[in-house]
Amino acid sequence: MRTEPTSTAEIPRHDELVDERLVRWYLISAALYLAVAMTGGFLMGFQLIRYNPFSGIELLSPGRWRMVHTNGVAYGFIASAFLGMLHWVVPRLTLRPVADKRLSYFIFFAWQVVVLGTVVGLLMGEAQGLEWGETPVWIDPLAQAGLGLVAINFMAPIRHLKGPMYVTLWYFTAAFIWTFLTYAMGNFIPQYFVNGTSAGAVGGLFIHDLVGLFVTPLGWGMMYYFVPIMLKKPIWSHGLSLVGFWGLAFFYPLTGIHHFLYTPIPMFLQYGAVLSTIAVEMVVTTVVVNFFATIKGSLSALKDNMPIRWFYTGMVFYFLTCLQCAFQTTLTFQALIHFSDWVVGHAHMVMYGVFSQWLIGVTVYLLPRIWRTEWYSRRMLEWHYWLSVVGITIMAFDLIVLGLFQGYMWASLAPWSDVIAFSIPWWAIRMIAGTLMFASHLLFMTHMLLTWMKAIAERKAEAAGSAAVAQTA
Ligand code: HEM
Repeated sequence: MRTEPTSTAEIPRHDELVDERLVRWYLISAALYLAVAMTGGFLMGFQLIRYNPFSGIELLSPGRWRMVHTNGVAYGFIASAFLGMLHWVVPRLTLRPVADKRLSYFIFFAWQVVVLGTVVGLLMGEAQGLEWGETPVWIDPLAQAGLGLVAINFMAPIRHLKGPMYVTLWYFTAAFIWTFLTYAMGNFIPQYFVNGTSAGAVGGLFIHDLVGLFVTPLGWGMMYYFVPIMLKKPIWSHGLSLVGFWGLAFFYPLTGIHHFLYTPIPMFLQYGAVLSTIAVEMVVTTVVVNFFATIKGSLSALKDNMPIRWFYTGMVFYFLTCLQCAFQTTLTFQALIHFSDWVVGHAHMVMYGVFSQWLIGVTVYLLPRIWRTEWYSRRMLEWHYWLSVVGITIMAFDLIVLGLFQGYMWASLAPWSDVIAFSIPWWAIRMIAGTLMFASHLLFMTHMLLTWMKAIAERKAEAAGSAAVAQTA
């Protein structure tokens, strides 16, 4: 067993720790999956404004593309980008490589099979009847095994650590265990073991635990790693960071039933979910305070440092989403907004406004380091950021406000067709906002290509320069 390095001479080099090729593959595949997922969002969006470009083609029916959209962002984009980030952060933080490089490559290819198999299965109409667990039943065992292997691969360097563990690793360790358990619970228990309201209760727990116990701990763990490095100062309060971690661990798993208020699920579970959701908002406040106290005195980074700007924008959206959640979880508010577009606005704000912004920030930080060059154009970086932020702000605001109108119209017993007719212009605005977000992403992918080509040209020029020097010598 390896022991802690005792002198700087013993610290392994970056290239011994990090497999940059794998990080790059994950980040690029994540970007490609996001483009496919956004296309799915567009197809569904067109259906809602009564313009379905593929009307009558079963394989391209909007209901199926909707699932490609949601599963594509979750498993294609977000999970892939997280895996790339983990291959960079865990070895650097623990100063040990992952368990086995071959295993890392196996997981990469197995994950492509899971994501592509899910897309094909969904388009063929083989969805599993569980919200967010639509991955076809024949994919589930493979995905479950993949999550187990991911945990083994990354836990190997972490388990050798001695002494206090930095908060990032608390979050990551918990995420490896929780994600494995959450996936098993959501995909197997309602499918094979329970039904009726019990399956509903498990389904609610699964939906929210995917956000709270998979995406959130990886996201915050990542912020605790990158923000201090980029700002070149420690996090404001280590104590507060632990309050955030343990608060999440305690309250988040209890919140799931808030998706199914006013259902036949026992009321004590519903009340428990309402209270713990409000408690999560308090915990979130401590985390956000910690990060804003950290950036105090370095505010110019928000202007000059693009990844920091993406991170803090995501944190503002995070606070807003959780604040919104603390209200929308109450029975009073639920009576108004349940089933309305308020929820869709909320979902986009958290998945795109928060976690995607963080993962894009990480990509903006890592790719030039891996390619050993600067981004091709500062102006393209700015456009990428502003199109994205303006797009999501419009989309979230548009859908949240629309949700309130829909709720009041339903409460006044307005005919369903009137509510649809009222909603269509708002859904059209969503398409405009989506176009900005899509344009932002296509610009980013073009920028990646240009930067990669620039890096190749620089390497060639360097090689030619060295050859010329060698010849003169
Ligand atoms: C390109 C822009 C996008 C458009 C046009 C779009 C459009 C849509 C549409 C039409 C729906 C279905 C809403 C319904 O059934 O009423 C949806 C759902 C959803 N989208 Fe998007 N979307 C876009 C980008 C994204 C991104 C980037 C993410 C996350 C990273 C995302 C996450 C979600 C989620 C989580 C849902 C499910 C919402 C729910 O069930 O409450 N979307 N989107």
